[in-house]
Amino acid sequence: MFEVMSTIKINSKHFEVYLTAAQIEERIKSLAQQLNKELTTENPLFVVVLNGAYIFAADLLRKITIPHEVAFVKISSYDGTKSTGMVKNVIGITQNLQNRHVVIVEDIVDTGQSLTYLNQYLKEGNPLKISTLTLLFKPKALLHKVTPTWVGFEIEPHFVIGYGLDYNEAGRNLPDIYVESEKIK
Ligand code: IMP
Ligand code: MG
Repeated sequence: MFEVMSTIKINSKHFEVYLTAAQIEERIKSLAQQLNKELTTENPLFVVVLNGAYIFAADLLRKITIPHEVAFVKISSYDGTKSTGMVKNVIGITQNLQNRHVVIVEDIVDTGQSLTYLNQYLKEGNPLKISTLTLLFKPKALLHKVTPTWVGFEIEPHFVIGYGLDYNEAGRNLPDIYVESEKIK
């Protein structure tokens, strides 16, 4: 039997379970079913946003049964638990986007800044269209006008970690998603 660790401490911050691995798995199953039906364009290109979306993408894309390709971009805008308000493109993509359906795969949409930046960046390649798939969405934290096409879970504007999401690079490997404890009390 595994012991369920419901609270954890990283540096001086306490976190508790917010979404369990089982809840995430179930949601991903139904998201994949929806995408397999709704992605009718030929050979869509999934653009996975590193680092945070790597676990979500690995779990989700193994359930996508239509032919597709995968590319990765790496951008950074966060410092600890606060957005620095700056986006830097670190790794770009080399694929030709002309007339392709591009699906951005994000771990979380918070202020919407990264997504706004990525949309502009990818548009330069003249894709057929750009859609967005995000595991988590904090609608109350939005500062930019973006609407993700597919959302795993809408959450309150709290800081969360686990399942790819980090606190200063810690916590990405946690199978469940945790929320900072004092923020929900
Ligand atoms: P945005 O540009 O403000 O929408 O933030 C997007 C990026 O910030 C996400 O892709 C994450 O990498 C990071 N981020 C936003 N909220 C959280 C959080 O609660 N925990 C960990 N990372 C987050
Ligand atoms: Mg991210």
